[in-house]
Amino acid sequence: MSSDLDPSLPAARVTAVRVGRRRDGAFAASPAPRVSWVVESDAPGWRQAAAELRLDGGGVVRLDGDESHVVDWPFAPMPPHARCTLEVRVTGESGVTTPWSEPVTVRSVFLADGEWRAELVGLAEPDGEACPGLVRTEFDVDGDVVSATLYATAHGVYQAAINGKDVDDDVLKPGWTSYGYRLEHEATDVTGLVVRGRNAIGIRFAGGWFTEKYGFHGQARRVYGSDQPAVAAQLHLLYADGATQVVVTGPGWRGAVAGPVVSSGIYDGEVVDLRRALPGWSEPGFDDGAWPAVVVHDLDVVPESSDAEPVRRTQELAVQQVLTTPSGRTVLDFGQNLVGRLRVRVRGAAGDVVTVRHAEVMEDGELGVRPLRHARATDEIVLSGGEDVVEPEFTFHGFRYAEVTGWPGELDPAAVTAVVVGSDLRRTGWFECSDPLVNRLHENVVWGMRGNFLSVPTDCPQRDERLGWTGDIQVFGPTAATLFDSDAFLAAWLKDLAVDQAAAGGVCGFVVPQVLPDGDQPAAAWGDAATVVPTVLFERFGDRAVLAEQYPSMRAWVDMLVERAGERMLWEGGFQFGDWLDPDSPPDHPAQAKVDPDVVASAHLVRSARLVARAARELGMAEDAEHYDDVAERARQAWVREYTTPAGRIVSDAQTAYAMAIAYELVDADTRQTMGDRLAELVRRAGDRIGTGFVGTPIIADALTDTGHADVAGRLLLQTGVPSWLYAVTMGATTVWERWDSMLPDGSINPGQMTSFNHYAFGAVADWLYRRVAGLAPGAPGYRRLRVAPVPVDGLDHASARLETAYGTAEAGWRAEDGQLRVHVVVPANTTAYVELPGADAVEVGAGEHEWTIPDPRPAGERSLATV
Ligand code: BGC
Repeated sequence: MSSDLDPSLPAARVTAVRVGRRRDGAFAASPAPRVSWVVESDAPGWRQAAAELRLDGGGVVRLDGDESHVVDWPFAPMPPHARCTLEVRVTGESGVTTPWSEPVTVRSVFLADGEWRAELVGLAEPDGEACPGLVRTEFDVDGDVVSATLYATAHGVYQAAINGKDVDDDVLKPGWTSYGYRLEHEATDVTGLVVRGRNAIGIRFAGGWFTEKYGFHGQARRVYGSDQPAVAAQLHLLYADGATQVVVTGPGWRGAVAGPVVSSGIYDGEVVDLRRALPGWSEPGFDDGAWPAVVVHDLDVVPESSDAEPVRRTQELAVQQVLTTPSGRTVLDFGQNLVGRLRVRVRGAAGDVVTVRHAEVMEDGELGVRPLRHARATDEIVLSGGEDVVEPEFTFHGFRYAEVTGWPGELDPAAVTAVVVGSDLRRTGWFECSDPLVNRLHENVVWGMRGNFLSVPTDCPQRDERLGWTGDIQVFGPTAATLFDSDAFLAAWLKDLAVDQAAAGGVCGFVVPQVLPDGDQPAAAWGDAATVVPTVLFERFGDRAVLAEQYPSMRAWVDMLVERAGERMLWEGGFQFGDWLDPDSPPDHPAQAKVDPDVVASAHLVRSARLVARAARELGMAEDAEHYDDVAERARQAWVREYTTPAGRIVSDAQTAYAMAIAYELVDADTRQTMGDRLAELVRRAGDRIGTGFVGTPIIADALTDTGHADVAGRLLLQTGVPSWLYAVTMGATTVWERWDSMLPDGSINPGQMTSFNHYAFGAVADWLYRRVAGLAPGAPGYRRLRVAPVPVDGLDHASARLETAYGTAEAGWRAEDGQLRVHVVVPANTTAYVELPGADAVEVGAGEHEWTIPDPRPAGERSLATV
């Protein structure tokens, strides 16, 4: 932040130089990665006039202009296995040049075409299905190694150790992709682990997502062919004299059903027998003479380098409370619904079994496990007889409560820690306002995202599902892109979406990776993830490349819909989830919403066609742009003709219908206002309660604010009765629930058989809190320009938001005092802000801090906290 700048430093400096999409290092996942940097400056209106990039061995390249984000690689392509140092300095429009940035080491993490040689190896004598195990080999190093990189992947999940030490602290590698088409490899720098002389490499692994059984209603089955996990690894050593050596997995390796992990499943949990620990197994000299040679599995795709942040342990939480349940069981309460697992320190007799069952809520004083359905979510630890410190390795659970049985002696809560696990994304968004319940709602949204951004964006993290439901992320995408730097994570997931979609003839299905028996059907608001998610990434992270990469997928989705829509240009009939989980839908029929599913479906045809037109225009494809504009316009007219009256009613007279018409711009300006008024009226009639499901929830507050009904939006936000966003907060929720009433007012769990307490979809309102309530919105892709237009909703005294954008820290917020509003804005260096304040002319301002005081536009009586 500019105000933190050390006065002894120059007025501008370059920070956060990065290469590629990942935020946690400078990884070249391709030979020509893009480069980004941030300029911090306390000089008002600072703008970049030129930049210089210095690469050791590549010279200095000067680039005129103000681009500082995803700038094309200006040097010769990086070869594989390369490492070089990159620095950046910039010259401002005033002519002053900054010092060089801190040097960052850029590392190639990709392999050349044809370079992948490692075979996929597994156990020759697995003990049952999905059998975890160990594989190992030894090798000699004869000289000075200057760099060593381990490229590894798995049909399953793995961790590798060299000479007894784990190669990194990532977990559940290599994550989940559409394995049949796309497998990613890590590229871990292991230079510090390799020694001169004899070395050993060992890999422990389990089935993870690869051997999991997917499907519902007793139909669950494996989808990836083999019922056994396998791993592939390739260690590249570069010697000081330029010589290279490569160690690869292959038939010469040995593998055994050994090591503490006896069985492991994503849904089931893990059985760990610490008596099976094998000290020294990944060190040289270990006697593996009794281990059979590994078997080689088919590797149908060439692994590609990963370009997203890995899954890691991101936080630890202590026990808040030890509960004794009515049936006499011991339950630990961590005070927060989280995703991860327990690490325990325990001593008992060899063979004692400590069992941990996990759940998100308690019901009737006992662990509420019904919502987990077929997920056992149970870890069993068989003690060694000595002091054991153990954390299950290849599974995760969604829980706040853990029931522990079999603990030898008295359980010391300090011996148990909840370890939070998730994709290690950089936090970028913070919001705060005068209502503590809203602040807790925001916090719940953050936790919901942390738990459900675990390698893929999932619906929920606890029951026998945890799938990449397309509708959920379509709805939540803008919020995800606000709270965390989710660019790399979602761009990687979109690659899976594209390959699965291509395999389904253009249909983007229900879940990605696609693992459901009937999942290859088009459903509105679900398959539209194909057009919406890339658009959101471009809008929030300003990287046109994502549009270019996804364009064929975006187009294929709309082409497929147009074909189905036929002459009428309406998407009618067929299966739809519709406005899923409308609060009025019966617990067991979540698709039975107030709005007709055809109204939702055809609206999405318009929406997606527009997004394709916009992407085409952005990519310079004028003809395509015109074509899809035409498609969108014809579909829009059809929608208006079929589903609206001339006076401005929609055949489904429901909140979601009007919200769509307004947010997706389906009607002309006059009708839009009429519909906004009708929407406000419907909300009022519902007692200021939300009446929307997945489709309407992310857009209703915008639709109200955009049609002059910020007061109604405010009352909707601050409502605490059921259904509302704050109802769950008043019930003690620490994450966002799947249903408006996942827990009923009497504390019992909703009788529907689909009831999670950690679903991010309804948390999508958080994006509106940033953009409209605090007033911090993108005015150009990547926040190159901010749009600051705060809407002081009734019931709040102040609200503010901060974002770490690609250009640096941006802030906007307001505070009501004595009938005035004090508006505060921070504009990052090298950007501008378009500021529209109520009752004032819009202004464009440059980088720096700005403040305005204007009359509070709200009627005096409605400003204070109005929560009832
Ligand atoms: C999931 C959802 C998903 C839905 C599709 C549920 O079981 O948890 O969030 O989008 O099915 O209808």
